[in-house]
Amino acid sequence: MTKMLKVGFIGTGGIAHTHVPGWQASPHTEMIAACDINETAVKNWGERYGIQTLTTSTEELINNPDIDIIDICVPNSYHADLAIAALNAGKHVLCEKPLAPTPAEVQKMIEARDASGKMLMTAQHFRFSGKSKALKAEIDQGVLGEIYHARSWMLRRSFTPYTAAFVSKAQAYGGASIDIGVHILDLTLWMMGNPKPVTVSGVSRTELAHMPGAFSTWNMADIDPSIYDVEEMAAAFVRFENGATLILEVAWLLHHSTTGEDMQMWLYGKEGGSLWPKCEIFQTNNATKQIYNRQLTLTNDQLEPHAQECVEFAQAIVDGAPSPVPAEHSLQVMTILDAIYRSQEMGREIVL
Ligand SMILES: NC(=O)c1ccc[n+]([C@@H]2O[C@H](COP(=O)([O-])OP(=O)(O)OC[C@H]3O[C@@H](n4cnc5c(N)ncnc54)[C@H](O)[C@@H]3O)[C@@H](O)[C@H]2O)c1
Repeated sequence: MTKMLKVGFIGTGGIAHTHVPGWQASPHTEMIAACDINETAVKNWGERYGIQTLTTSTEELINNPDIDIIDICVPNSYHADLAIAALNAGKHVLCEKPLAPTPAEVQKMIEARDASGKMLMTAQHFRFSGKSKALKAEIDQGVLGEIYHARSWMLRRSFTPYTAAFVSKAQAYGGASIDIGVHILDLTLWMMGNPKPVTVSGVSRTELAHMPGAFSTWNMADIDPSIYDVEEMAAAFVRFENGATLILEVAWLLHHSTTGEDMQMWLYGKEGGSLWPKCEIFQTNNATKQIYNRQLTLTNDQLEPHAQECVEFAQAIVDGAPSPVPAEHSLQVMTILDAIYRSQEMGREIVL
């Protein structure tokens, strides 16, 4: 069978490799081209995956008439310009997270998507794990009832990136919030049904990175405080139009007990609560005066979530279905994160 959708990558670094099994597994897609400003990287990519059409020019890749889908896997600051150019050239775009570092850029991407009629999706891979889908299915069936409060966090201990691409405001715009906060915030908002945020009170701090001798267990690297001007941690209280509330905490560096990463999402509804990723449900029976817990039955993921997102993106194109991660949801995420920065600067709650 001829695979109808041809895929071209922009960026062949770390994360791009995790998308490959998805494009290979989809019955609709075939990888045919790749671009990277690093000539050696793109050459190695071609050899590894048997791709012949290789270039260091993003313009050449975007204007290649054989390509239907462009998979953007480059640093955050390039996402908006490349995605807009690709949409203008009539391509569908899967773009790594964050869709763009600022809400204004995401808004421009949405406008380009609407003008092109093509699909734009943020690679929020956590939505595509079996655990996330199992919990979402329960929520959609009303098991939790109306969700009126959530607590979510993604906390790392001594595990910060340390290169300027991530920790210098000029290059990265923000720190832990836009690097990892996007994951847990996107997932939580999706589970809550993406209610409209109306106010945000937040703090964002850089404390431990500026201590003498500060280091990251990521490659056991020393932190250079002179380039580290993004936040290492952030916390926020968000109110939504429907009355629901969220407490969010994110950190690359924190004296937290966990080694590595502690990622949790607690959702509290009128009919029940839940804990992800453990996938437990907590309920009360007022008639029998009982409280009880239930563990969701989970099946093994067939594909790793980064790959599964590619399969579902392609399927949505073929089916004429909406984007599995609409850019409007990413706009909500970036609007909340941007408000945390503004709240920190102004020392007060931000009304959106
Ligand atoms: N979803 C996830 O779990 C996850 C994990 C890591 C990174 N990411 C995201 O993926 C993106 C890339 O991160 P990475 O870790 O793969 O980075 P990386 O540095 O490993 O790879 C990026 C590649 O892009 C190339 N590149 C840089 N600028 C370019 C440009 N303008 N045009 C063409 N090529 C360019 C670099 O040469 C490099 O090969 C980032 O947006 C990051 O936030 C997502």
